[in-house]
Amino acid sequence: MDLLADLNPQQREAVTAPPGPVLVLAGPGSGKTRVLTHRIAYLIRELGVPASHIMAVTFTNKAARAMRTRLETLIGQPTGRQAVSLGTFHSLCARMLRREADRLAFSREFVIFDDADQLSVMRQTLKDLDLDPKQIAPGRILALVSRAKNELIEPQDFAADSYIGEVAKRAYTRYQAALLQNNALDFDDLLLFAVRLLRDHEDLRLAYRRRLPHILVDEFQDTNTTQYQWLRLLAGETPDLYAVGDGSSTPPWG
Ligand SMILES: Nc1ncnc2c1ncn2[C@@H]1O[C@H](COP(=O)(O)OP(=O)(O)O)[C@@H](O)[C@H]1O
Ligand SMILES: [Mg+2]
Repeated sequence: MDLLADLNPQQREAVTAPPGPVLVLAGPGSGKTRVLTHRIAYLIRELGVPASHIMAVTFTNKAARAMRTRLETLIGQPTGRQAVSLGTFHSLCARMLRREADRLAFSREFVIFDDADQLSVMRQTLKDLDLDPKQIAPGRILALVSRAKNELIEPQDFAADSYIGEVAKRAYTRYQAALLQNNALDFDDLLLFAVRLLRDHEDLRLAYRRRLPHILVDEFQDTNTTQYQWLRLLAGETPDLYAVGDGSSTPPWG
């Protein structure tokens, strides 16, 4: 099967670009995800890259499943340790945190709290701070905490420049302590803790860079600061980082 046969000339150029940092920008529906999937197959089939040296990041589980299916028709079915590391930011980070749990404050069996769990922890957190959850909506504080985590802002760096900011700062610290007590992380923590892990452990950082020298990212325009830092920590100095996206929104790094 000819990898390049069902691509248009621009797609072909993008798929066969020399390794190194590559940013492919094109409009919605123009075939970017198709290009990324073919790029993975191209690395493996044409450049002889072992599938296990490749990590591909998508934004949704649905997109990850679709890409896995497309890849299987292009390259067959490598499984287990031989397979491409393919998933969402959240699933790839969760996997990394479980694998490296002995370096972390929580255990390998940590649970991931959903919206309802988060709300109940935040409601209790506000009560513990002698604040009335009827007057200060837990959801509002959670939104501020979530935004901070996506911008890689830790509790001690949180700017308490208003009353609500002051509340959020104190609640953020206490909420994290409550999660830890439950051996729990929320979705944003998966990214945040993965960034900390790589930032604080040089040996791990280097080991991951050796193991996954080829990184591909779909929907790059939607990458937040924390996700971008995680990619940068993994990519290192001379990355084969291949990103596709549409120019419709301005990412925090651009
Ligand atoms: N060269 C092509 N030949 C046939 N179908 C294509 C081609 N390029 C894209 N498509 C199809 O167009 C649709 C959109 O492609 P996709 O990769 O999802 O776009 P994007 O990620 O840019 O939104 C998909 O169904 C894809 O299979
Ligand atoms: Mg797409």
